[in-house]
Amino acid sequence: MKSLLLKRLVLTAVACVAPSVFAGTVWLSSLDLEEMTTGWSVAKADLGIMGSPLGIHGEKFAHGVGTHATSKFRVKLDGNANRFTAQVGVDDSAGDQGSVEFIIIGDGKVLWRSGVLKGGEAAKPVDVNLAGVQTLVLRVTDGGDGESNDHADWANAKMEMNPGAPPPIALPPFETFSVKTKKFAVTFQVGDDGRLYQRPIGVADPNTKPQRDDEFYPQAGDGYVWEPALQVVHADGNTSTALVYDGLAQTNESADVELTRVHLHDPAYPFEVTLCFRMHYNEDVIEEWTEIRHQESGPVTLQRMASTSLLLTTNVYLTYFFGDWGKEMLVPITEKLTPGIKVLDSKLGVRADQFQNPSFILSLNGRATETNGEVFAGSLAWSGSFQCEFDNNNRGIRSLCGINPFASAFHLKPGETFVTPKMIWVWSDHGLGEMSRKLDDWVRDFGMRDGHKPRPVLLNNWEATGFNYDFNRIANLFAPAKAIGTELFLLDDGWFGNKYPRINDDAGLGDWQANHKRFPNGLAPLAADAVKHGLHFGIWMEPEMVNPNSVLFHEHPNWVICQPKRPLELQRNQLVLDLTRPAVQEFEWQTIKSILSVPDITYAKWDCNRYLTQPGSSYLAPDRQSELWINYVHALYALMDKTAKTFPDTELMLCSGGGGRVDYGALKYFDEFWPSDNTDPVVRVLMQWDYSYFFPPMAIASHVTLSGHRPMHFACSVAMSACFGMDLDLTKLPAEDKAILAGAIAAYKQIRDVIATGDLYRLADPHQGFRGALDFVSPDRSRVVVFVFQLKDGQNVPVYPQGLDPARRYTIHELNPAPGRAAMPQEGKTFTGEELMHDGIMPSCSKTLEACVMELNPM
Ligand code: GLA
Repeated sequence: MKSLLLKRLVLTAVACVAPSVFAGTVWLSSLDLEEMTTGWSVAKADLGIMGSPLGIHGEKFAHGVGTHATSKFRVKLDGNANRFTAQVGVDDSAGDQGSVEFIIIGDGKVLWRSGVLKGGEAAKPVDVNLAGVQTLVLRVTDGGDGESNDHADWANAKMEMNPGAPPPIALPPFETFSVKTKKFAVTFQVGDDGRLYQRPIGVADPNTKPQRDDEFYPQAGDGYVWEPALQVVHADGNTSTALVYDGLAQTNESADVELTRVHLHDPAYPFEVTLCFRMHYNEDVIEEWTEIRHQESGPVTLQRMASTSLLLTTNVYLTYFFGDWGKEMLVPITEKLTPGIKVLDSKLGVRADQFQNPSFILSLNGRATETNGEVFAGSLAWSGSFQCEFDNNNRGIRSLCGINPFASAFHLKPGETFVTPKMIWVWSDHGLGEMSRKLDDWVRDFGMRDGHKPRPVLLNNWEATGFNYDFNRIANLFAPAKAIGTELFLLDDGWFGNKYPRINDDAGLGDWQANHKRFPNGLAPLAADAVKHGLHFGIWMEPEMVNPNSVLFHEHPNWVICQPKRPLELQRNQLVLDLTRPAVQEFEWQTIKSILSVPDITYAKWDCNRYLTQPGSSYLAPDRQSELWINYVHALYALMDKTAKTFPDTELMLCSGGGGRVDYGALKYFDEFWPSDNTDPVVRVLMQWDYSYFFPPMAIASHVTLSGHRPMHFACSVAMSACFGMDLDLTKLPAEDKAILAGAIAAYKQIRDVIATGDLYRLADPHQGFRGALDFVSPDRSRVVVFVFQLKDGQNVPVYPQGLDPARRYTIHELNPAPGRAAMPQEGKTFTGEELMHDGIMPSCSKTLEACVMELNPM
């Protein structure tokens, strides 16, 4: 190693002082031969592999390199050499044994090959033009008959350099490159076969010799036997793909963001794949996706096209979240990945979730906690059927995630590019807490709309009135809403439909005109009245759906997604409109535009209350039916994008029968999401905890309702820990509850900037013990808000805040304390951050369904 370093120093020194020294001849043996691989022993400068002088067929050579098949040497020329000459053959030390082939490769192209040379044969002269070659590779194969006695001599090997050129440099035997963030890197390696390999994540000392199992973005049909990332039927019917590495391009998109595009192609077809990694340096977040294009004679069928296929160590725990309607994200499951394939997926077509969110956590080399462990969490940005597979072949775990290949073959035309959905990854070596804080930082900048703007306090009428309302009933809510501090009124389902009025969920979807009986002059007077009372006004819509009981359905029965020859299957009495049909795209856009153009409407809740069960389109050709799943989501995103851009000042809530569309594919067009129709605050403590691994609390709508008949103070405290709203009939609320609610709103307004932009620390896991606790710390660590939710009676034990500035002094103050309860023992007292984190704070709550919200303010 010392000699290697010395040699490098000498070369550098010479190169700096007088680079022109290298104009002329450079002996191959003068380069750093430690980088040359050999099948036996180590490469020797100016000697044969056995240590004796170089000799071929009796002829001796003073210069050259003695090696042993199989051997590889990579040399960086950077276009500075013009010629390579040598005499090659089997060294005389092998007698008449041994057979080898010498191959010279420039920038991936074979420039010269010797054919098989045997022991005792004369040296073969080499004279190769190197003009323009950046990287030279010298290889010796075993001639096809095994390596024994394959003593191979690159005798007299030398390069002619251009005048003034810097010296050639020996490179590591395999081309490697990494994509990196501050604390995380994925390292790739190009194999001798030209394929791209990946060093498994989480392995301390990964094997540097690539094996077929380690191929990155593995393709079906040509040797890879595990779960592939890519499965293609080429235009000529060939079901195999074999990609080789072409090169990469790295661009700095900002001081914090670097995009790496890795190019691969199939030498047998005009078929290309680009692997993309957008690295967010400080957040340790990776956006990963794949682009596929070709110029074959006809369409290529993509049967499987993962967004990611990262390879990990075998010691991995997977945490995922199962649920159902009203129970979204409610059941976290952590299990060790055992050999075989673990699949998380959905086949719902127009949304990712009802039962399974497309987000998960991988803990490497042991189970992670909030503060410890290596964690790699992923979330697929796709609002349709998805599939995440963890393929453990006992040598590594491949984590594949993308559009669900189920029934979704896609026909890619020549010249078109298929872009997979993005996979969002975040890395932490300090457990789950750091993981979600870094992800939240990324989300506020890139994952959602207006991620730095605190959200308004909102009153929704759904749980208060259901479908049963008219102008007066709603207008009567405005004054009491304003009186307690509400900022926005959201009118929910039930305002439209005339021939088929929307008085229940059986009719009206598709007929987006305000109901004349309820709103004789349309919605504008109601919105204006809200504004007159000092409230913003928002509206519910479900533009993708239709009830059979609607004018729209009667006029356009072929606009719905259904299967011919099968009875229509309704969910919530409704059908999905076929968004692949241009006329439907136009109809939905006109619907959205006309609703959001009503004067004074500045907020909208976009709902989607069913999923696909009969995926047939009368618009798509019979042999293109499988494209419905993908084309629908693409058309949906086009619509959401147009909506967000056309109405930049209209806030948008993402909803799908509760939490069916909580994913980063849709969220980037929205300001917040509706996590579940279950608003029982006891359930929400658990649900919001689980969502908070992947989504910032400011995006999680949390409404105070009567669900579960919990104490008002508890319900308010839970809503304050996320994006606060209400679903209540304020005209019927008892005065004491109203007072608690008004107090909570006033307190929330005081702290909502900390909830919106602060760092979240999860302190006590409500799934595990008798309480849930969180704190939020402002970016400068001067302000802290602590939440404690008592789910069961517990001894009065302290809560230990985290993330405080240890040296700073904080004064404790309980916000909106529950009436009649004794004040906290530390109320109004001041402590250092260090004391508070070490000794804890005794909250005012200890009994089931008590809560305590406290503020720690700087002295
Ligand atoms: C869905 C939503 C609810 C409400 C209803 C209206 O279920 O999740 O919040 O808007 O639709 O029909």
